[in-house]
Amino acid sequence: MGWRGLTAEEIAGLAGVVGAAHVAAAPEDLSAWSKDWTRDLVAVPAAVVRPRTTEEVSRVLALCHERRIPVTPQGGRTGMSGGALAVEGGIALSLERMNAIREIDAANFVAVAEAGVVTQTLQESVEEKGLFYPPDPSSRGSCLIGGNVAENAGGPHAAKYGVTGRWVLGLEAVFADGRVTVTGGKTRKDVAGYDLTSLLVGSEGTLAVVTAAWLRLLAKPAAWATVLAPFDSLGAAAAAVVEIHRRGLVPSACEIVDRPSVEVSSRKKGVGVPFPSAEARLLLDFDGGSPDEVERDVSRAGEVLLDCGALDVALATDEAKRRTLWDVRRGIAEAIHELGVSVEMDLAVPRSELVALVEGVRGIASQAGLHPFCYGHAADGNLHVRLLREGESVLSGAFDGAVRAIYAEAVRLGGTITGEHGVGLLLRNVLAKRRDAAFVDAMRAVKAALDPRGILNPGKLVP
Ligand code: MLT
Ligand code: ZN
Repeated sequence: MGWRGLTAEEIAGLAGVVGAAHVAAAPEDLSAWSKDWTRDLVAVPAAVVRPRTTEEVSRVLALCHERRIPVTPQGGRTGMSGGALAVEGGIALSLERMNAIREIDAANFVAVAEAGVVTQTLQESVEEKGLFYPPDPSSRGSCLIGGNVAENAGGPHAAKYGVTGRWVLGLEAVFADGRVTVTGGKTRKDVAGYDLTSLLVGSEGTLAVVTAAWLRLLAKPAAWATVLAPFDSLGAAAAAVVEIHRRGLVPSACEIVDRPSVEVSSRKKGVGVPFPSAEARLLLDFDGGSPDEVERDVSRAGEVLLDCGALDVALATDEAKRRTLWDVRRGIAEAIHELGVSVEMDLAVPRSELVALVEGVRGIASQAGLHPFCYGHAADGNLHVRLLREGESVLSGAFDGAVRAIYAEAVRLGGTITGEHGVGLLLRNVLAKRRDAAFVDAMRAVKAALDPRGILNPGKLVP
């Protein structure tokens, strides 16, 4: 399509919908809306438009549809696949002002949140009422519910509770031409028509703009504990995860982290962590309806971990210790970014293949002279891999051979090219490694049906 600018008349038209204070078009005012957490990729939109209501979103889309103006929906811009970058110009449609929690319905265990609600804010708001919203991407302090829905975001709690889509009962969404639909609501069952909720979840802003979500809640667990186990290799830690589950234990989080990842994050945070020299570690959370239940699980987990070669097992039940361990884990991505430019991969394989995957990744990376950082959500077989080489841009081609080999290895093991970060811009040309031609044709047909002018998030996801 090429980069699409806006005329003064178009900018005035958009300002007429959302108010002049909520449209910016001067390049010097657009830097915040030109980047996401891929860091070294920058795409400046022609304007940012920040609506406050669904009706405003609808009118903005109707105008853009009529004029064929590209629309790139944006949430917290914490995505890691370039999905929120306005690569074809037009407008960045920021949902950040749509930040109301419309309702927390404790009788039905449902929250209704607008797209711009920060995930952690929603979690804390429902917890005040004794309720629990499990999806918890590492960026939960700055990512938004709309972005979580668009990416079908995961996070550590997916180990027990599954990814965002499992918690979405319905969506309020605006199609490319401005028409508004509501795909579900508070009922647990609703098979009236196609499952549009599931179609829109994970569609990365290419089929509609999500403005609000009906989200299923649980009762808040009564007790938690965190277990930390060091290992002398990443492969041994991965093998222990398989055994934990084989013996019937279901941790609410089950993270695997290698030594370089812990080192860089704990250094940035200025905190010490137990077992600093261990090559690998598992960080497991258990939750339950009573302290006794959790204690039982924790002590069984300790036995299994030691049987599987853990060098030690440490238990944290008090909040301050748990928080330090989790802050170091959640801070890894940001700490690696500060080291320089790195290639980020988000592989997922069947859990039992995680051992083969970590060994394959380390072999390929070291042959290519790259330093891998490996960490991720082990119970889901979801491994984040960062490849770093000083002075090399991800766009330079220096990483390409190793990246290709690693994707091929994940797919060979029955896995996928992205478990939770999405296809976005970066994996669009890699999608064919995972999806066959019939699948891609079906994606194109859906896209053409719902967005015939191709204005929604052009350049993303659909090859
Ligand atoms: C995480 O698990 O920390 C996030 O998915 C971000 C990342 O890939 O680093
Ligand atoms: Zn992750």
